Amino acid sequence: MGELGLNKIMGALLATALGLMGLATLPSLVFGGGGGHYGDHEEPATLSEKMCKKFHYCIEIAEAASTAEAEEVFDLGAALASADLTRGERTFAGQCSTCHTITPGGASGTGPNLHNIVGGPKMHIAGFNYSGAMKAAEGQWSYENLDAWLKSPAGYMKGTSMSFAGIKKDADRANVIAYLAANTEGAPAFPAPLAAAAPAEGEVVPAEGEAVPAEGEAAPAGGEAAPAEATPPAEGAPAEAPAEEVQPT
Ligand code: HEC
Repeated sequence: MGELGLNKIMGALLATALGLMGLATLPSLVFGGGGGHYGDHEEPATLSEKMCKKFHYCIEIAEAASTAEAEEVFDLGAALASADLTRGERTFAGQCSTCHTITPGGASGTGPNLHNIVGGPKMHIAGFNYSGAMKAAEGQWSYENLDAWLKSPAGYMKGTSMSFAGIKKDADRANVIAYLAANTEGAPAFPAPLAAAAPAEGEVVPAEGEAVPAEGEAAPAGGEAAPAEATPPAEGAPAEAPAEEVQPT
Protein backbone atom coordinates (compact mmCIF):
# COMPACT_ATOMS: atom_id res chain seq x y z
CA MET A 1 0.00 0.00 0.00
CA GLY A 2 1.36 3.42 -0.91
CA GLU A 3 1.84 6.40 1.29
CA LEU A 4 -1.32 7.91 -0.02
CA GLY A 5 -3.49 4.91 0.84
CA LEU A 6 -2.25 4.89 4.41
CA ASN A 7 -2.94 8.59 4.79
CA LYS A 8 -6.47 8.10 3.54
CA ILE A 9 -7.12 5.41 6.12
CA MET A 10 -5.64 7.49 8.92
CA GLY A 11 -7.68 10.43 7.78
CA ALA A 12 -10.84 8.41 7.80
CA LEU A 13 -10.12 7.13 11.29
CA LEU A 14 -9.42 10.61 12.54
CA ALA A 15 -12.62 11.94 11.04
CA THR A 16 -14.61 9.17 12.69
CA ALA A 17 -12.97 9.84 16.02
CA LEU A 18 -13.67 13.54 15.79
CA GLY A 19 -17.24 12.84 14.83
CA LEU A 20 -17.74 10.57 17.84
CA MET A 21 -16.24 13.12 20.16
CA GLY A 22 -18.52 15.73 18.70
CA LEU A 23 -21.54 13.56 19.38
CA ALA A 24 -20.33 12.85 22.85
CA THR A 25 -19.96 16.52 23.74
CA LEU A 26 -23.23 17.49 22.16
CA PRO A 27 -25.46 16.97 25.22
CA SER A 28 -23.26 19.07 27.44
CA LEU A 29 -23.21 21.79 24.81
CA VAL A 30 -26.98 21.75 24.57
CA PHE A 31 -27.59 21.67 28.30
CA GLY A 32 -25.07 24.28 29.14
CA GLY A 33 -21.95 22.17 29.49
CA GLY A 34 -19.77 22.26 32.52
CA GLY A 35 -19.46 19.06 34.51
CA GLY A 36 -22.25 17.83 36.69
CA HIS A 37 -25.42 19.48 35.55
CA TYR A 38 -28.64 17.93 36.69
CA GLY A 39 -31.05 19.71 34.43
CA ASP A 40 -33.70 21.58 36.34
CA HIS A 41 -33.62 19.36 39.43
CA GLU A 42 -32.75 20.80 42.78
CA GLU A 43 -29.09 20.93 43.47
CA PRO A 44 -27.95 18.39 46.03
CA ALA A 45 -27.59 20.25 49.29
CA THR A 46 -25.56 18.25 51.76
CA LEU A 47 -22.19 16.67 51.36
CA SER A 48 -23.65 13.20 51.52
CA GLU A 49 -26.16 14.06 48.82
CA LYS A 50 -23.42 15.42 46.60
CA MET A 51 -21.32 12.37 47.16
CA CYS A 52 -24.31 10.22 46.40
CA LYS A 53 -25.14 11.97 43.13
CA LYS A 54 -21.65 12.42 41.89
CA PHE A 55 -19.95 9.23 42.95
CA HIS A 56 -22.90 6.97 43.75
CA TYR A 57 -21.44 6.76 47.22
CA CYS A 58 -24.53 6.96 49.38
CA ILE A 59 -24.27 7.21 53.14
CA GLU A 60 -26.07 9.15 55.79
CA ILE A 61 -23.34 11.07 57.49
CA ALA A 62 -25.58 12.72 60.05
CA GLU A 63 -27.11 9.45 61.15
CA ALA A 64 -23.79 7.72 61.58
CA ALA A 65 -22.67 10.51 63.87
CA SER A 66 -25.66 10.24 66.20
CA THR A 67 -24.93 6.61 67.08
CA ALA A 68 -21.41 7.57 68.09
CA GLU A 69 -22.63 8.97 71.37
CA ALA A 70 -21.05 6.59 73.78
CA GLU A 71 -22.90 5.36 76.80
CA GLU A 72 -20.85 6.30 79.79
CA VAL A 73 -20.74 4.19 82.89
CA PHE A 74 -21.43 6.26 85.97
CA ASP A 75 -19.84 4.68 88.98
CA LEU A 76 -22.30 5.77 91.67
CA GLY A 77 -20.48 3.86 94.38
CA ALA A 78 -17.17 5.53 93.62
CA ALA A 79 -18.81 8.94 93.33
CA LEU A 80 -20.51 8.53 96.72
CA ALA A 81 -17.32 7.29 98.34
CA SER A 82 -15.55 10.46 97.29
CA ALA A 83 -18.55 12.75 97.66
CA ASP A 84 -18.14 16.22 99.11
CA LEU A 85 -20.68 16.76 101.90
CA THR A 86 -20.10 20.49 102.08
CA ARG A 87 -20.88 20.86 98.42
CA GLY A 88 -23.86 18.55 98.81
CA GLU A 89 -25.23 20.71 101.59
CA ARG A 90 -24.72 23.79 99.47
CA THR A 91 -26.53 22.24 96.53
CA PHE A 92 -29.36 21.15 98.78
CA ALA A 93 -29.67 24.67 100.19
CA GLY A 94 -29.62 26.14 96.71
CA GLN A 95 -31.80 23.70 94.80
CA CYS A 96 -33.95 21.69 97.19
CA SER A 97 -34.62 23.73 100.31
CA THR A 98 -37.23 25.93 98.66
CA CYS A 99 -39.48 22.86 98.75
CA HIS A 100 -37.88 20.48 101.25
CA THR A 101 -36.69 20.57 104.83
CA ILE A 102 -34.30 17.88 106.03
CA THR A 103 -34.13 18.40 109.78
CA PRO A 104 -35.74 15.73 111.99
CA GLY A 105 -39.44 16.43 112.18
CA GLY A 106 -39.06 19.38 109.82
CA ALA A 107 -42.21 20.72 108.23
CA SER A 108 -43.23 19.64 104.79
CA GLY A 109 -43.67 22.44 102.31
CA THR A 110 -44.20 22.09 98.62
CA GLY A 111 -42.29 18.85 99.01
CA PRO A 112 -42.16 16.41 101.92
CA ASN A 113 -39.54 16.60 104.67
CA LEU A 114 -36.51 14.54 103.63
CA HIS A 115 -35.06 13.43 106.95
CA ASN A 116 -34.31 9.69 106.92
CA ILE A 117 -35.11 9.41 103.24
CA VAL A 118 -32.26 7.10 102.15
CA GLY A 119 -33.31 3.46 102.15
CA GLY A 120 -36.78 4.45 103.25
CA PRO A 121 -40.02 3.74 101.44
CA LYS A 122 -41.32 6.01 98.75
CA MET A 123 -43.88 8.41 100.29
CA HIS A 124 -42.06 8.26 103.58
CA ILE A 125 -44.01 11.17 105.09
CA ALA A 126 -47.47 10.06 106.10
CA GLY A 127 -50.11 12.59 105.26
CA PHE A 128 -48.17 14.41 102.58
CA ASN A 129 -50.19 15.02 99.45
CA TYR A 130 -48.19 12.89 97.04
CA SER A 131 -48.99 12.70 93.34
CA GLY A 132 -50.83 9.78 91.81
CA ALA A 133 -47.59 8.78 90.14
CA MET A 134 -45.78 8.59 93.48
CA LYS A 135 -48.67 6.69 95.02
CA ALA A 136 -48.39 4.12 92.24
CA ALA A 137 -44.62 3.88 92.54
CA GLU A 138 -43.01 0.90 94.19
CA GLY A 139 -39.76 0.24 95.93
CA GLN A 140 -37.54 2.23 98.19
CA TRP A 141 -35.26 5.18 97.94
CA SER A 142 -32.10 3.18 97.37
CA TYR A 143 -29.01 5.08 96.28
CA GLU A 144 -29.56 3.94 92.72
CA ASN A 145 -33.19 5.05 92.71
CA LEU A 146 -32.32 8.40 94.26
CA ASP A 147 -29.65 8.85 91.61
CA ALA A 148 -32.07 8.18 88.78
CA TRP A 149 -34.76 10.30 90.42
CA LEU A 150 -32.54 13.30 90.99
CA LYS A 151 -31.06 13.07 87.50
CA SER A 152 -34.52 13.50 86.02
CA PRO A 153 -37.54 13.33 88.33
CA ALA A 154 -40.05 13.33 85.48
CA GLY A 155 -37.96 10.85 83.51
CA TYR A 156 -37.79 8.49 86.48
CA MET A 157 -41.42 8.95 87.45
CA LYS A 158 -43.74 10.21 84.76
CA GLY A 159 -46.39 12.43 86.28
CA THR A 160 -44.60 13.33 89.50
CA SER A 161 -45.54 16.62 91.08
CA MET A 162 -41.91 17.45 91.89
CA SER A 163 -41.27 20.14 89.33
CA PHE A 164 -37.52 20.01 89.29
CA ALA A 165 -35.45 19.63 86.13
CA GLY A 166 -32.87 17.39 87.73
CA ILE A 167 -29.16 17.54 88.46
CA LYS A 168 -27.32 16.53 85.33
CA LYS A 169 -23.80 16.56 86.68
CA ASP A 170 -22.94 13.19 88.21
CA ALA A 171 -20.65 14.57 90.89
CA ASP A 172 -23.17 17.20 92.01
CA ARG A 173 -25.86 14.55 92.26
CA ALA A 174 -23.62 12.23 94.26
CA ASN A 175 -22.79 15.07 96.66
CA VAL A 176 -26.47 15.74 97.33
CA ILE A 177 -27.23 12.05 97.78
CA ALA A 178 -24.37 11.75 100.25
CA TYR A 179 -25.84 14.74 102.06
CA LEU A 180 -29.24 13.00 102.20
CA ALA A 181 -27.47 9.94 103.61
CA ALA A 182 -25.72 12.07 106.21
CA ASN A 183 -29.19 13.14 107.32
CA THR A 184 -30.49 9.61 107.51
CA GLU A 185 -30.11 7.74 110.77
CA GLY A 186 -28.56 4.36 110.14
CA ALA A 187 -28.29 4.99 106.41
CA PRO A 188 -27.45 1.91 104.34
CA ALA A 189 -23.88 1.50 103.18
CA PHE A 190 -22.93 3.07 99.88
CA PRO A 191 -22.98 0.70 96.92
CA ALA A 192 -19.55 -0.71 96.12
CA PRO A 193 -17.57 1.08 93.44
CA LEU A 194 -17.55 -0.83 90.17
CA ALA A 195 -13.85 -1.62 90.23
CA ALA A 196 -14.21 -3.18 93.67
CA ALA A 197 -17.36 -5.05 92.72
CA ALA A 198 -15.45 -8.13 91.56
CA PRO A 199 -14.87 -10.35 94.59
CA ALA A 200 -11.34 -10.65 95.84
CA GLU A 201 -9.90 -14.15 95.84
CA GLY A 202 -11.69 -16.43 98.22
CA GLU A 203 -14.50 -13.97 98.70
CA VAL A 204 -17.74 -15.22 97.32
CA VAL A 205 -20.67 -13.08 98.17
CA PRO A 206 -21.23 -10.03 96.03
CA ALA A 207 -23.11 -7.16 97.61
CA GLU A 208 -26.88 -7.43 97.35
CA GLY A 209 -26.74 -10.69 95.45
CA GLU A 210 -25.95 -8.96 92.22
CA ALA A 211 -24.25 -10.85 89.48
CA VAL A 212 -20.66 -9.78 89.31
CA PRO A 213 -18.92 -9.77 85.98
CA ALA A 214 -15.88 -11.99 85.71
CA GLU A 215 -12.55 -10.28 85.71
CA GLY A 216 -11.69 -8.57 82.51
CA GLU A 217 -15.26 -8.60 81.43
CA ALA A 218 -16.57 -5.10 81.31
CA ALA A 219 -19.88 -4.66 83.04
CA PRO A 220 -22.27 -3.53 80.35
CA ALA A 221 -23.79 -0.16 80.88
CA GLY A 222 -27.56 0.17 80.85
CA GLY A 223 -27.63 0.11 77.09
CA GLU A 224 -24.95 -1.53 75.10
CA ALA A 225 -23.82 0.43 72.12
CA ALA A 226 -26.12 -0.60 69.35
CA PRO A 227 -24.50 -1.35 66.04
CA ALA A 228 -24.95 1.41 63.54
CA GLU A 229 -27.88 0.61 61.39
CA ALA A 230 -27.31 0.11 57.73
CA THR A 231 -28.89 2.98 55.94
CA PRO A 232 -30.63 2.43 52.66
CA PRO A 233 -29.53 4.71 49.84
CA ALA A 234 -31.15 8.09 49.85
CA GLU A 235 -34.62 8.25 48.44
CA GLY A 236 -35.07 9.10 44.82
CA ALA A 237 -31.41 8.51 44.18
CA PRO A 238 -30.23 8.71 40.62
CA ALA A 239 -33.31 7.16 39.05
CA GLU A 240 -33.53 9.88 36.46
CA ALA A 241 -30.09 11.33 36.75
CA PRO A 242 -28.22 11.35 33.48
CA ALA A 243 -26.50 8.10 32.71
CA GLU A 244 -22.77 8.13 33.17
CA GLU A 245 -21.55 11.63 32.75
CA VAL A 246 -19.72 12.27 29.55
CA GLN A 247 -16.43 14.00 29.99
CA PRO A 248 -15.89 16.60 27.32
CA THR A 249 -12.30 16.74 26.17
C1 HEC B 1 -40.31 22.84 93.26
C2 HEC B 1 -40.30 22.09 94.49
C3 HEC B 1 -39.27 20.99 94.65
C4 HEC B 1 -37.91 21.08 94.51
C5 HEC B 1 -37.07 22.26 94.07
C6 HEC B 1 -37.40 19.76 94.85
N1 HEC B 1 -38.43 18.93 95.19
FE1 HEC B 1 -38.26 17.01 95.82
N2 HEC B 1 -40.26 16.83 95.86
C7 HEC B 1 -41.17 17.84 95.58
C8 HEC B 1 -42.51 17.30 95.60
C9 HEC B 1 -43.79 18.07 95.29
C10 HEC B 1 -42.37 15.93 95.88
C11 HEC B 1 -43.48 14.90 95.89
C12 HEC B 1 -43.52 14.32 94.48
C13 HEC B 1 -44.71 13.46 94.14
O1 HEC B 1 -45.55 13.18 95.00
O2 HEC B 1 -44.78 13.04 92.97
C14 HEC B 1 -40.95 15.68 96.06
C15 HEC B 1 -40.43 14.43 96.41
C16 HEC B 1 -39.10 14.20 96.66
C17 HEC B 1 -38.57 12.95 97.12
C18 HEC B 1 -39.37 11.71 97.46
C19 HEC B 1 -39.89 11.87 98.86
C20 HEC B 1 -40.74 10.71 99.37
O3 HEC B 1 -41.27 10.85 100.46
O4 HEC B 1 -40.87 9.69 98.68
C21 HEC B 1 -37.22 13.13 97.22
C22 HEC B 1 -36.21 12.09 97.66
C23 HEC B 1 -36.92 14.46 96.83
N3 HEC B 1 -38.08 15.10 96.47
C24 HEC B 1 -35.65 15.00 96.82
C25 HEC B 1 -35.36 16.28 96.32
C26 HEC B 1 -34.03 16.82 96.26
C27 HEC B 1 -32.77 16.13 96.76
C28 HEC B 1 -34.12 18.05 95.67
C29 HEC B 1 -33.00 19.01 95.30
C30 HEC B 1 -31.96 18.49 94.46
C31 HEC B 1 -35.53 18.29 95.41
N4 HEC B 1 -36.24 17.19 95.83
C32 HEC B 1 -36.04 19.44 94.86
C33 HEC B 1 -40.85 19.15 95.33
C34 HEC B 1 -39.59 19.63 95.08
